[in-house]
Amino acid sequence: MNDETEAMIWSSLPVPAILIDPDENIGDMNPAAEGFFNNSAKWLTGQPIWDRLAVDAPLEASLARAREHGTPLFVNDVDVGTGSRPPLVCNLQIAPLQGRDGWMIMLISPRELAGRMTQSHSVKSAAKSAIGMAEMLAHEIKNPLAGIAGAAQLVSMNLPKEDLELTDLIVAETRRIVKLLEQVEQFGNLSAPDRVPVNIHDVLDRARRSAALGFGAHMKIMEDYDPSLPMAVGDPDQLLQVVLNLVKNASEAADPKTGGVIRLHTFYDHSFRTRRADGSGQSLPLQIEIIDDGPGLPDDIRGDIFDPFVSGKENGTGLGLALVSKIINDHDGWISVDSVPGRTVFRLSLPRYRGETKEKA
Ligand SMILES: Nc1ncnc2c1ncn2[C@@H]1O[C@H](COP(=O)(O)OP(=O)(O)OP(=O)(O)O)[C@@H](O)[C@H]1O
Ligand SMILES: [Mg+2]
Repeated sequence: MNDETEAMIWSSLPVPAILIDPDENIGDMNPAAEGFFNNSAKWLTGQPIWDRLAVDAPLEASLARAREHGTPLFVNDVDVGTGSRPPLVCNLQIAPLQGRDGWMIMLISPRELAGRMTQSHSVKSAAKSAIGMAEMLAHEIKNPLAGIAGAAQLVSMNLPKEDLELTDLIVAETRRIVKLLEQVEQFGNLSAPDRVPVNIHDVLDRARRSAALGFGAHMKIMEDYDPSLPMAVGDPDQLLQVVLNLVKNASEAADPKTGGVIRLHTFYDHSFRTRRADGSGQSLPLQIEIIDDGPGLPDDIRGDIFDPFVSGKENGTGLGLALVSKIINDHDGWISVDSVPGRTVFRLSLPRYRGETKEKA
C-alpha cells in the first residue's frame, strides 16, 4: 500500500481515530475525529489527550499495560466528553501503532452512531422498573407466604410419616421464596451510605470469619494485606455486604467437595483515578481484590453479571452483584472484574479518608 492509499484510508475512516504519542499527547487525528472534537487536528496536535478527552473510566493502568505488552484494549459503554459538548456513550478501541514504539491508535465509536443507544437505555430502565415492581410484589407476597408455611406446619402435625415429605417441601420452598423476597427488599431499602473512616481490613476480617463459619467453610481463605493501607471512607456495614457477596460468589464457584482458595488482597495504588465525563476526577487509591481459583465467569453472562436478575446458578437471584455495584457506586468507588478459568479477580477501588482536609483534596 502506498502513502496515498494510506492517507485515503485515514481520512475515509467513518469513526474518530486518534494517534497518541508515548507522552500521551495527541499525535494526529482523522477528519472524523476533528468533527468529534469540533476542532482542527492542527490545533489539537501536541495537546495532552486526557485534557481534551474526558473518559469516565480509570484508563491509565490498563493503557500502560496495553502499551507495555503491545496488546489492544477495548473499553465498552463509557461516557466520553470533549468539553465542547455533552458526553456520549462510546466504545473505545485502543491498539499499539505498528512500527512506532510507544504510540497508540484509538478509535472512538459513539454508541449512538451504531444505533444501539436507545436499546441500552431501555434495557437499563427496564432493569430499574423490574426492581421497583419486584419490590412491590415482594412486600405483597410475604404475608400470604407466611400463612402458607404456617398452615403446612399445622397440617403436618396430623399426617402419617410418609406424607411429611410433602409438607416439608412446602415449608422449604416457601422459605426459599421468602429469602429471595427479602433480598429484593434489601435492594429497595438501601439508604445513602454513611461516610465514616473505615478500616478495610476489619471489614475483610469480619467477612472472612462469617464465611468460614457458613457458606465458605469448604474454602481456604488467605489474607494478603498491605498493613500500611490508609482508612477508606464509607459505610462499614454496606462494605461488609459487598465483601460478603463477593466471597460468597467465590465460594459458590468452587467445587463443593474439594473447595478452593480465596485470596483477599489489599494494596495502595496512588495513580488510580476515575475521570468523570464532566472532566473532574477522583482518586481511588485503595484497592481490594477478592481472588478465587474457580472456573471463572460463565461466557454467556459475563457481560451482564452486574445487572439484576442475571444468574448462572440454578437457585441464584442474580441480585448479589447488582447490590454490590450499587453500593460501590454510592461510595463513588469503582468495581471491575477480570476472569479466566482458574483465576477470577473482583477488584474494588475506593477513596481514602482524608479527615479534616477532605474539602481541599
Ligand atoms: N467468583 C465467581 N466465579 C465464577 N462466576 C461468578 C463469580 N462471581 C459471580 N459469578 C457469576 O455471576 C453470576 C451473578 O452473580 P450474583 O451474585 O449477582 O448472583 P447469584 O450469585 O447468582 O445470586 P445471589 O447472589 O442472589 O445468590 C453468578 O450466578 C455466577 O454465574
Ligand atoms: Mg451471588
